[in-house]
Amino acid sequence: MSQQRLKIEVAKAALKYVEPGMTLGVGTGSTVNAFIDELGSSGLELTGAVSSSDETTERLKAIGVSVLDLNHTGDLALYIDGADEVDSHRRMIKGGGGALTREKIIAAASRRFICIVDESKCVGVLGEFPLPIEVIPMARALVARKLIGMGGSVSLREGFQTDNGNLILDVRGLDLVDPVRMETQVNQIPGVVTCGLFALRGADQVLVATEQGVELR
Ligand code: 5RP
Repeated sequence: MSQQRLKIEVAKAALKYVEPGMTLGVGTGSTVNAFIDELGSSGLELTGAVSSSDETTERLKAIGVSVLDLNHTGDLALYIDGADEVDSHRRMIKGGGGALTREKIIAAASRRFICIVDESKCVGVLGEFPLPIEVIPMARALVARKLIGMGGSVSLREGFQTDNGNLILDVRGLDLVDPVRMETQVNQIPGVVTCGLFALRGADQVLVATEQGVELR
């Protein structure tokens, strides 16, 4: 099965958790795009959605879903989002699409976070995928030096600005064996908006598309 087919399968499986009238949190990325397509053809009527990126907002509007301000919705019943890597404790690296900060905000505001991935995203230990870190522009070099001091190898995502007007540093080589500790440590560096480790608040469930079908983990 192609990777795109797996994304469609897991998107269809996620749709089963969405109830009419819900206000839904919606993530960012190609797997979420497949989910939005499925949502559009399902005929399900939502109260609305809280979006994690400008791209997702456009796609939600295109299928007729009202995009709501999180400041007016209160907590959300359900958040659906993809990941770049997920481990067996449902901790993740996210931010390949650069939307990590809004994704983390929505995850924190959601009672249930279902992560949707294909099998290629499942890992034993997080860290093969470079860790995205959103940084305030004036702190770029400071944060990079601190990360190098922690054992990281840092590269600026060239020509990229987040929806919040910030930069992304992609970092390899940090020791992520204890991702809660590393998430806490990185988030304390002045100038870091947030890092793409989702360990303090991981997913509640992970739907994994495999060649044999979609598994709930
Ligand atoms: C965006 C994300 C995405 O969830 C992550 O990059 C996975 O994307 P895709 O579904 O395209 O593989 O965190 O910031």
